[in-house]
Amino acid sequence: MRTDTGQVFRLEDYRRSDYRIPETRLAFDLDPEQTTVVSELVIERADDSAAGAPLVLDGDGLDLVALELNGEALGENAFEATPDRLTIHALPTDSTFRLTITTRVNPSANQALMGLYRSSGVYTTQCEAEGFRRITYYLDRPDILSVYRVRLEADKATAPLLLSNGNPVEAGDLPGGRHFAVWDDPHPKPSYLFALVAGDLGVVTDEFVTMSSRRVALGIHVEKGKEPRAAYAMDALKRSMKWDEEVFGLEYDLDVFNIVAVSDFNMGAMENKGLNIFNDKYVLADEETATDADFANIEAIIAHEYFHNWTGNRITCRDWFQLCLKEGLTVFRDHEFSADQRSRAVKRIAEVRTLKAHQFPEDQGPLAHPVRPRRYREINNFYTATVYEKGSEVVRMIRTILGAEAFRAGMDLYFERHDGDAATIEDFLTVFEEVSGRDLSQFALWYHQAGTPNVSVKASHNAATGELVLDIEQSSPPTPGESRKRLMHIPLAFGLVGPDGRDMVWESVEGATIEHGVLHVRKRKHHVRFTGISERPRLSLNRGFSAPITLSVEEKPEDRAFLARHDGDLFSRWQALGGLMSDAIIEASKHLRDGRKAEYGREIPELCGVIATDDRLEEAYRALALALPSEADVAREIGANIDPDAILAARNGLVEAIAAANGDTFAALYDQLADSEPFTPDAASAGRRSLRNMLLDYLSSGPGATGRAAAQYRDAGNMTDRSAALSVLVMRHPDAADTKAALADFETRFGDDALVMDKWFQIQAAAPGAGALETVRTLTTHPGFSIANPNRVRSLIGTFSSANQTGFHRADGEGYRFFADIVLQVEQRNPQVAARLATGLRSWRSLEPKRKARAREALLRIASTENLSPDLRDIVERTLA
Ligand code: ARG
Ligand code: ZN
Repeated sequence: MRTDTGQVFRLEDYRRSDYRIPETRLAFDLDPEQTTVVSELVIERADDSAAGAPLVLDGDGLDLVALELNGEALGENAFEATPDRLTIHALPTDSTFRLTITTRVNPSANQALMGLYRSSGVYTTQCEAEGFRRITYYLDRPDILSVYRVRLEADKATAPLLLSNGNPVEAGDLPGGRHFAVWDDPHPKPSYLFALVAGDLGVVTDEFVTMSSRRVALGIHVEKGKEPRAAYAMDALKRSMKWDEEVFGLEYDLDVFNIVAVSDFNMGAMENKGLNIFNDKYVLADEETATDADFANIEAIIAHEYFHNWTGNRITCRDWFQLCLKEGLTVFRDHEFSADQRSRAVKRIAEVRTLKAHQFPEDQGPLAHPVRPRRYREINNFYTATVYEKGSEVVRMIRTILGAEAFRAGMDLYFERHDGDAATIEDFLTVFEEVSGRDLSQFALWYHQAGTPNVSVKASHNAATGELVLDIEQSSPPTPGESRKRLMHIPLAFGLVGPDGRDMVWESVEGATIEHGVLHVRKRKHHVRFTGISERPRLSLNRGFSAPITLSVEEKPEDRAFLARHDGDLFSRWQALGGLMSDAIIEASKHLRDGRKAEYGREIPELCGVIATDDRLEEAYRALALALPSEADVAREIGANIDPDAILAARNGLVEAIAAANGDTFAALYDQLADSEPFTPDAASAGRRSLRNMLLDYLSSGPGATGRAAAQYRDAGNMTDRSAALSVLVMRHPDAADTKAALADFETRFGDDALVMDKWFQIQAAAPGAGALETVRTLTTHPGFSIANPNRVRSLIGTFSSANQTGFHRADGEGYRFFADIVLQVEQRNPQVAARLATGLRSWRSLEPKRKARAREALLRIASTENLSPDLRDIVERTLA
């Protein structure tokens, strides 16, 4: 494991490299324990001022076997090699020279899953961000672009498949049962996009013909026997390729495109040039083993990695501070793709839910950082919801401000001007300033300033004069290292909803610029005066979540209820209803904490009944509307002194109140929505299932109400319905005989299928209450669990810490103690996964005092462990700071 040097990397320290590597030739002699890597580099001095500068190559735990310069072995004094660095002092005076480096690595021993490793007998690589230096010494930084030619040699019986980036050029047999293949990638790329795969896998093939009639051979490689489960991923890939041509005019640029699914993978997937490598969870799906949510994720991630070919690979990042340049933009592109393939309103709500669940707590806690950070200790800890999801929101705001046409013109200019570059956020913003003539300097703060801004709005209406005044004020809370905030440019989409539910039209407005329904908040305060507003309107604010902010509005519950029924903007309707629900749960939790009885009123149950049965609304939308804010959502709204038990009880109370008021309606609708057609994963069918499963949850909320869920479990024709029924049983009736039977049945059916068993772990890890800890602890000894596999760890431990508010935050602190033990165990093998897991404690300061003290103890115990990896040390120290 790498030692922590405590080094901090700063954006302002960026300087270009003294050397370039125009050509890279790699030869891998693959062996499970002793793989030899010969790297032949053509190195070029960047300019004369670099003459005499030593060449310093990055390494990470490397073992140097041989070193040659221009074909001659280098003398001992000419260089210095440590596992983490190769320095060459004596260099020829010519501007170009050839360096040949031989290293030896052990793929089987690599449990960090960075660099070259083996997963279920398959050799695979992960090089982003700094994994290439675990394979060979290199200028392992994204602004060093090189043309690669790769030769792979391996045992033919166990590794008949040999893949790397680019196009295949040569292959053949060798003595001793070995064989080889040569791959050539004509597109210059940074080392983090290098990949190889060697193994014995099944394949699904297809072809895509690009808009200029180039034929591309497509291959998706999966574990043998699982080929039929790759069909949906292939379909999603072809749709992604088509969409990028149609929407952005972007075409694929190689003869082949390969995707490989591996079962041990630190993240979702990786966009290596022409050879995307995926966590198999995001490739494999069929109706019996995958849920509708899995299908949607596969579609989105296949698209995301494919879209990186332009936003990430053809135009890459100058340095890792610019990570959002490729990630935020590519998330935006995959969001748009899914919106076009499915339902825009539903997709937008799902995005905002994810943003609020993951990015808001990050932005409002100790790990807050700007979308483009200025410093880091461990770059792997910056693959965050802020860089990805908020990064996408920032791109969306650019489009909102510029309009769709100018946005597209800006993107065109970006591709034209920067193709082949390692670019920066400044480069990106400049193209939009140029095409629109707008000044985006204030807007750029979205990249540079951390924290979630708040906008407060006060309205006063004068019926006699027809005047409406909005007093708008922005503020941004302090975040670590940034106590004073500058004023942001916030595009606030809004509507003034009249008594008939339609948007009112004003005569004149002063005090702020309004364009196409978007009010531009740029000053601390805006006093906005509308005329011609004869009746008091309801304010529909931040429509479509036009800006990633929090809103403070003094609003009567009746107005919210009105908007929940009538707002012409579907997103705002959802937002209004969610706000009502959240307030009701918060109010009830206060009552329960004070030992009083909780009251929920009639408005919310009635609204739920109206929305559930409104055929004008898509089923998927109705399901989202009926989904109460999660316990974590409510905790975030409360913000301080959180008691998870009170929140759970209050939320359950509201579920029961809604169910009690709508029992017959929900039951009839549940029956009516039963699937008669064979399964298809399309959005409309998935929507029907999601509404029906949402109703099942309500219908199963009463004491002893296990019958429907048990029957649905038994009769389920697909994994969506089966796992939903199991989840309802476990969440609502953990101790019922029906629940025990369903859990046992699931294990019998799917015990051999690790990906499906992840659902079984996940569902049990989420079961509320103090007893959850013992369940989870016992499950860590289940034969299907493995501390070495990231998917298993995330399913069981990740779910427990992020989705089980009452179990994890047990009042006696035992949840935290168990969690710290596991984090430290995971760290022994895989620091990156351990560090990610440890962020589960980032909101510890908002807990009530007793829990807060226990959470802190657990964090301190991790922090005081000797030889902590840089990854985990960075997270715990920032969390405690
Ligand atoms: N670039 C990959 C993706 O789009 C993620 C890589 C994350 N790598 C890491 N070491 N954290 O989404
Ligand atoms: Zn990405």
